[in-house]
Amino acid sequence: MKVAVIGVGRVGLPLSLHFESLGMTVVGIDRDPRLLESLARREMPFHEEGCQELLTRSTRVRFTSAYADAHDADYVIVTVGTPVHQHIETDLSLVRQVVEGLLPILRTGQTIILRSTLAPGTTAYLKAYIELHSPWRIGQDIGLACCPERLAENAALRELSLLPQVIGCEDDFSREAACRLFASLGVKLLVTTYVSAELVKLFNNVSRYVNFAVANYLATIAAEHGQHIHELVHMSNEDYPRGVIPGPGFTAGTCLRKDFGMINERFAGTDLLLSAWKVNEYMPYHVVEHLSSQTSLHGQEVVVLGCTFKRNSDDTRDALTPKLIRYIERKVPSRILVCDPHVKDAVVDGYPNLAMDQCLPSADVVFIAVNHECFSAEAVLGHAKPGAWIVDLWNCLGTGQVVSRVAK
Ligand SMILES: NC(=O)c1ccc[n+]([C@@H]2O[C@H](COP(=O)([O-])OP(=O)(O)OC[C@H]3O[C@@H](n4cnc5c(N)ncnc54)[C@H](O)[C@@H]3O)[C@@H](O)[C@H]2O)c1
Repeated sequence: MKVAVIGVGRVGLPLSLHFESLGMTVVGIDRDPRLLESLARREMPFHEEGCQELLTRSTRVRFTSAYADAHDADYVIVTVGTPVHQHIETDLSLVRQVVEGLLPILRTGQTIILRSTLAPGTTAYLKAYIELHSPWRIGQDIGLACCPERLAENAALRELSLLPQVIGCEDDFSREAACRLFASLGVKLLVTTYVSAELVKLFNNVSRYVNFAVANYLATIAAEHGQHIHELVHMSNEDYPRGVIPGPGFTAGTCLRKDFGMINERFAGTDLLLSAWKVNEYMPYHVVEHLSSQTSLHGQEVVVLGCTFKRNSDDTRDALTPKLIRYIERKVPSRILVCDPHVKDAVVDGYPNLAMDQCLPSADVVFIAVNHECFSAEAVLGHAKPGAWIVDLWNCLGTGQVVSRVAK
């Protein structure tokens, strides 16, 4: 099978490498010259478990900026970003640009697979767009399917071999073609309509986001009552089979925020997601105020550990750390330093990104903003100054306390 993947970012690149490892011939097409330069050197542009090894030894995958190279492919898989506008409105321009770029080079018999996260109705819109601007009929000349990506970063290769694939199609040609492609992953196929596939993906994210909001909501209420959130979560879940409450933390990332826009643009009613969003967005302010009720940050040296949007990742897109830093700045500390071993940049949001042994020994206050594995009790307490304050919403140190002090 020959596959073209348009947009070889966090989703498209692992998918390209995985398909190649299954014996397919793959061309990855992207408009970002820096990303293409990195791939030409056979260097991963970001960290994704197991991908560097696949990239190094791959022989049937190549990368280019030329859409024309998709002409030979049996499948054209679209994995570009799908943002929302500033207002509550889906931005269709990126996927439409891809389709516009494909129209001159598509040929009969090919199938387009939309893998990006799409607002409900986008696949039907693109079908109508293709049929108006080309001689082809979907289901007769070319195929079209919405098969959303549901993997988690840093688990991409493992999850591509595990997760059921949702196949949204509305004609036999497309359904058979899409099922043939994804059957090669050796996983269960869940066949449905365009809009159901779009909604399943969005609500997988929504469910996770709202679930974290429950934990964060409880964290703010527990603090209000002078109780420990981690003890409450533990007791709620202990040998109790229903409604498991996750731990609290900073919940963000590009997907979750844009899903809100995608779901709400056609809906003016009271909204569950808006409430969850408010709760999750409140957490940086909450931890700064929670600490400030016990000690002043004025004139103190502060270290923020972690600046990605998720654990053990180097992806800083839409993380809450910059927001946390801005609330810390409002308390007029003497200095702020950042430490994230997963992020290569020497400066993050204008602050130096140092190693733990360089910044922790002199810090008066330490905020753990991301639950990276490297921020263990041993590593953090091993370097921290005696008497330093630690803010640990995630319970990385296992003390069970959001605010604690290093022993003097
Ligand atoms: N990152 C995740 O964990 C994740 C998980 C599941 C689904 N998704 C969804 O997958 C989609 C892609 O997300 P991502 O995280 O891989 O984004 P990304 O920004 O990492 O990758 C997108 C790539 O598309 C390229 N691109 C954009 N427009 C292009 C165009 N017109 N032609 C060619 N290339 C173009 C960009 O240069 C970029 O390299 C989004 O819809 C996202 O919501 C992401």
